[in-house]
Amino acid sequence: MVTGAGRKTDNDAYASPTTWREWTRFVHTEPPCLPGTGPWSAEERLDYHSQFVILSTPTMAKISLTLRRIMILNRRHNGTARRGLLISGPPTTGKTTTLQQLGRSFHLADQARHGGPVECLPVVFLSVPPAATPKMLVCELARFLDLPIGTTMNQARITDVVCAALHQLGTRLVLVDDIHLLNTRTRVGAETSDQMKHLSERIPATFVYAGVAIEASPLLTGSRGAQLAGRFKMVRNPPLAYGSNAQRTAWEGLVRGMDQALRLQAHRPDALTRHAAYLHQRTVGRIGSLSALVREAAIAAILGGTEKITKRLLEDIDLDELAEQAARPPART
Ligand SMILES: Nc1ncnc2c1ncn2[C@@H]1O[C@H](COP(=O)(O)OP(=O)(O)OP(=O)(O)O)[C@@H](O)[C@H]1O
Ligand SMILES: [Mg+2]
Repeated sequence: MVTGAGRKTDNDAYASPTTWREWTRFVHTEPPCLPGTGPWSAEERLDYHSQFVILSTPTMAKISLTLRRIMILNRRHNGTARRGLLISGPPTTGKTTTLQQLGRSFHLADQARHGGPVECLPVVFLSVPPAATPKMLVCELARFLDLPIGTTMNQARITDVVCAALHQLGTRLVLVDDIHLLNTRTRVGAETSDQMKHLSERIPATFVYAGVAIEASPLLTGSRGAQLAGRFKMVRNPPLAYGSNAQRTAWEGLVRGMDQALRLQAHRPDALTRHAAYLHQRTVGRIGSLSALVREAAIAAILGGTEKITKRLLEDIDLDELAEQAARPPART
């Protein structure tokens, strides 16, 4: 098995934390990183804005509180039917980020309770592979744990090895991303969903699934779906709205957080926050689109030498097609 954060390389920023080594590195690296107090080179600041900050959103806080309660509920519940959490929302609303931040907080808190890094792995993070089969799913867990899997080992044997390792490592939280990729209308998809249920009964951990529009997916239909729906609470992760005063305050808080995190030489405080309403209209409240727009504007400002974000600059940047379509006025018929 692999432990420790290891040496940082240029490719680390692109590594998805789907192995123990990458997960540990992710947990111990608080983004974004700029060395010392500056001044920083243009290259360092380009790197910084490419990564940028992760901010707390109202939905993140709600999900975190809900998960905390569920984990206490499950703490002494050794039998089956442990409770779980579903995070459902449209694309690019921050589901994966929320899942990873939940995992990071729990991992660090657990480690602090044990007084430093020990041979344990409180959190496992897994993305459902495309066209997943039950065997692929346990192999993915084995890959995360860096367990040697022989070519002759069958699914049951790999499952045993994975469950034993997770028991031994004291894993308490299993995070599964892109659960909507499990199409339970197909035989293989249904069997893979059964495998998930089997794992959740054998591993004494709380399971959290995140995916796109889970409530409308086949995952919750039929008798299998009813079982899952009977155990899992759902929290929706919608785009941020901009209607009520409270919603505007939350959105502006998010934009202000990004404003304060900008590292542009000619940037003035609140130069971005004053465009909060415009930014909402452009991004339709999707945090992924907001982050992309602000980061690209910052990068353009550094490359162009203006070193500040203006509304004109924001207007010049094309966003992802989803945001562009949603922000476009409907065509006249
Ligand atoms: N809380 C946050 N603070 C700042 N930026 C965020 C936050 N959440 C998400 N982002 C930004 O939005 C991008 C998209 O987020 P993420 O990948 O978590 O969305 P998603 O809902 O999982 O998307 P998909 O449905 O495509 O999987 C992230 O790469 C990050 O740049
Ligand atoms: Mg995602």
